Amino acid sequence: MSTTASNPIATATVATPQAPPAFSCGSGDEQELGKYFICAYPPFGLWKPDAADAARSVLSSEAKSSEVLGLYVHFPFCVRRCDYCYYKSYADSTHSDRERYLDSLDRELALYSEMPAIAGRKVKFVYFGGGTPSLLTADQIRKLLDSVKRYFPWGEVEEATFECAPDSVHPDKLDALKLGGVTRISLGVQQFDDRVFEANGRVHRVHSIERAYRAIRERAFPTVNIDLMVGLVGETDATFQHSIERTLTLEPEGVTIYQLEIPHNTPLYRAVQDRTAAVALAPWDVKHQRLGAAMRCLVDSGYALRSAYAAVRDLERDQFLYQDAQYRGADLLGLGVASFSYFSGVHYQNASTVDEYYAPLERGELPLERAYALTREEQMAREFLLQLKLVRVSREYFRRKFGVDIIARFSPALQEFRRRGMLTWDDRTLSVTMAGLPRVDRMIRAMYLPAHA
Ligand SMILES: C[S@@+](CC[C@H](N)C(=O)[O-])C[C@H]1O[C@@H](n2cnc3c(N)ncnc32)[C@H](O)[C@@H]1O
Ligand code: SF4
Repeated sequence: MSTTASNPIATATVATPQAPPAFSCGSGDEQELGKYFICAYPPFGLWKPDAADAARSVLSSEAKSSEVLGLYVHFPFCVRRCDYCYYKSYADSTHSDRERYLDSLDRELALYSEMPAIAGRKVKFVYFGGGTPSLLTADQIRKLLDSVKRYFPWGEVEEATFECAPDSVHPDKLDALKLGGVTRISLGVQQFDDRVFEANGRVHRVHSIERAYRAIRERAFPTVNIDLMVGLVGETDATFQHSIERTLTLEPEGVTIYQLEIPHNTPLYRAVQDRTAAVALAPWDVKHQRLGAAMRCLVDSGYALRSAYAAVRDLERDQFLYQDAQYRGADLLGLGVASFSYFSGVHYQNASTVDEYYAPLERGELPLERAYALTREEQMAREFLLQLKLVRVSREYFRRKFGVDIIARFSPALQEFRRRGMLTWDDRTLSVTMAGLPRVDRMIRAMYLPAHA
């Protein structure tokens, strides 16, 4: 893997007038390696194979839920794996590997569309993530979109997101996406620094970001979101600030900034553990400061906070239904290898290798691997903890849906976070402050129900 020893990580803050207050697992004793970002609750480690029957049972139920329904479609192929990436993805796939995968997705869609709890329900949002879905050819993109629409008519789809990596964006693919009804492009830019790309095993370069962005803009997709990362190997305050400024010149509708996490199954983790190379990594407090400074910079430039990690030009127009609906208890069917779903209060995950994913589908069965059936109390905690990421939580929503006052229910932890300046609230809304924003996942973890702590 590529590493850098020549780019020391500067620790002075840029455009951060005040350092955020210390946190119990803050600088000094924060674990530097491992998972950080919380994307599901209860945590994956508690999902078990013997609970998969609970998923089959809710899917076979004749009762139709009134929740919003959405689809996540995973495409697990990339040109090469970035050193920090832990998502399910294979490098060096062939055209026929991708064809076989699309055929399996078609089978999975067909099986779902016939399940009693799903048949006839209308889909409101679709998300194509990866991996690198933009590796598909224009013909394959049409085939994939046609498959989804064959089983889940798109009449009521309000948002369809497609993840793109700059190198694989081409005009004919964009035309297929636009004509096929994709409304939101999520472009994985990460930074504007070729040396940082090189140091992290990232394939694209700055010139391809600009080429891809122009081509996307020419097709007038309603929303273009740029994904950035903070804390990459070789990054400094100055290079990161430069990336924010370059992003602002493109004027995307949305900007999302992820703090680098280094889970165990990544080449970067192994390089750090084995000390096989000198790796210059920013500690968590530096990542928090850079993220905080970047969010302030976006707000000063006219963006509004949509979540702890994302800012948009217009909160009304640039919503992100995929996230908002999930955090409010929507049913989400996750298709493809290793995808996870949430349906009628049951979380479950698909088989985690392509071979284990293909085999059951070829027998006409869903490729379920493990699951967790949530109690009503756990559903309430799940929605509250995930909604904290959206920066503003309505107290009335929880009173109405669960008969719970969240302030009473999650004190004294909430009181303590308020004392530290990370949260505030009034009668209607609980809000994460600018100081709390980069640490929201740590706050969430501290409020897990005792059985999940
Ligand atoms: C799974 S990627 C899919 C998009 C596309 N493959 C790409 O990399 O541009 C979605 C986003 O996750 C973020 N990401 C990936 N690995 C990460 C890590 N170790 N820590 C934090 N964010 C990460 C990146 O910002 C990336 O754009
Ligand atoms: S391109 Fe995206 S999905 Fe693929 S390895 Fe890199 S971060 Fe992971």
